[in-house]
Amino acid sequence: MAKSILVTGGAGYIGSHTVLQLLLCGFKVVVIDNLDNSSEIALHRVKKLAAQFSTNLSFHQVDLRDKSALEMVFSSTKFDAVIHFAGLKAVGESVQKPLLYYNNNIIGTVNLLEVMSAHGCKTLVFSSSATVYGWPKEVPCTEEFPLSAANPYGRTKLFIEEICRDVQNSDSEWKIILLRYFNPVGAHPSGHIGEDPRGVPNNLMPYVQQVAVGRRPHLTVYGTDYNTKDGTGVRDYIHVVDLADGHIAALQKLFDSNIACEVYNLGTGKGTSVLEMVAAFEKASGKEIPLEMAGRRPGDAEVVYASTEKAERELNWKAKFGIDEMCRDQWNWASKNPYGYGSPDNED
Ligand code: NAD
Ligand code: WQD
Repeated sequence: MAKSILVTGGAGYIGSHTVLQLLLCGFKVVVIDNLDNSSEIALHRVKKLAAQFSTNLSFHQVDLRDKSALEMVFSSTKFDAVIHFAGLKAVGESVQKPLLYYNNNIIGTVNLLEVMSAHGCKTLVFSSSATVYGWPKEVPCTEEFPLSAANPYGRTKLFIEEICRDVQNSDSEWKIILLRYFNPVGAHPSGHIGEDPRGVPNNLMPYVQQVAVGRRPHLTVYGTDYNTKDGTGVRDYIHVVDLADGHIAALQKLFDSNIACEVYNLGTGKGTSVLEMVAAFEKASGKEIPLEMAGRRPGDAEVVYASTEKAERELNWKAKFGIDEMCRDQWNWASKNPYGYGSPDNED
């Protein structure tokens, strides 16, 4: 019997790619999403890409804070596990609107955990973030590093990780994997699904992509005086399809072993500077990305990249793609969908 997986936030960037990989692996998938930062078109495209598996996908437009709607979803299907992506993720917005972030991310998660518990579904994969390493004193970041939060968004990830540990401590039937993603980029190689942020992108590659298609005049490079190879910030970029596959590996681990609450980094273990990433994108797209050099962005770390050993050893998962493939697929998505899932009329 195919296992049923509930995916919260499954219409979003990482969620939609993960839903596709789940379907292709033969899982039944129910997505809940309030479409606050996503479009149902992403799920229509996932269905097309999933071909004969498309009938294994269903969608409910539900907000995690609406507990009675959540109850209805759990009453209609018995889930083997939940992958919990749903949340707000814009660092700057979280500084401006901390209560929105605490309300959405934390209350949403507590509701989900309560409803899961009430329905006897106690197997969870949660989307955490490398942001919980704050400004790491050294690299690569191992899962044992001290944790800190530089902003309310990061604090929601830290709190939710702690909530998960407490819940599992209180009831050993729970099996939980916390996945700390580094910097997800790229798109499905088909070019039919990808990242489509609302408004001005906060993150590097969505911004670069919008410059390449002519939606923005130049990229502002935040910080050229870091102690790095070329002075710009260094991060661990990971292809979103590799990241999606990491979730399948985490599910297998949950189904096959007696896990309690474990944390794994999902990264490549390689550090790439802003200028290296721009050069790789220029090569992949044949487009020049005009640059404006600027001061450091407040709150940014200098160098962040993952230790990948634990995930390799215990999840049997390792990222396959490098930055050339990430940029190739990002450009394929951007050139086919210069306005994402929307139309120029929706442009701000
Ligand atoms: P995304 O915004 O594309 O996807 C999140 C989805 O959750 C969206 O579709 C949104 O509509 C939905 N959502 C938000 N609040 C909801 C609520 N209350 N009820 C129902 N649906 C809700 O973001 P993403 O990049 O796909 O990120 C997915 C998860 O991974 C998030 O939890 C994010 O914090 C985490 N994460 C992302 C990154 C990154 O750089 N993209 C890095 C580390 C961790
Ligand atoms: C990468 C590099 C910037 C934009 C953020 C969140 C983190 C996680 C991933 C969710 C940095 C530089 C960026 C631009 C630039 N998300 N940059 N010009 O800051 O590593 O992490 O996304 O959990 O929590 O904080 O990613 O893509 O914003 O920045 O020069 O317009 O690109 O300074 O060095 P970051 P990013």
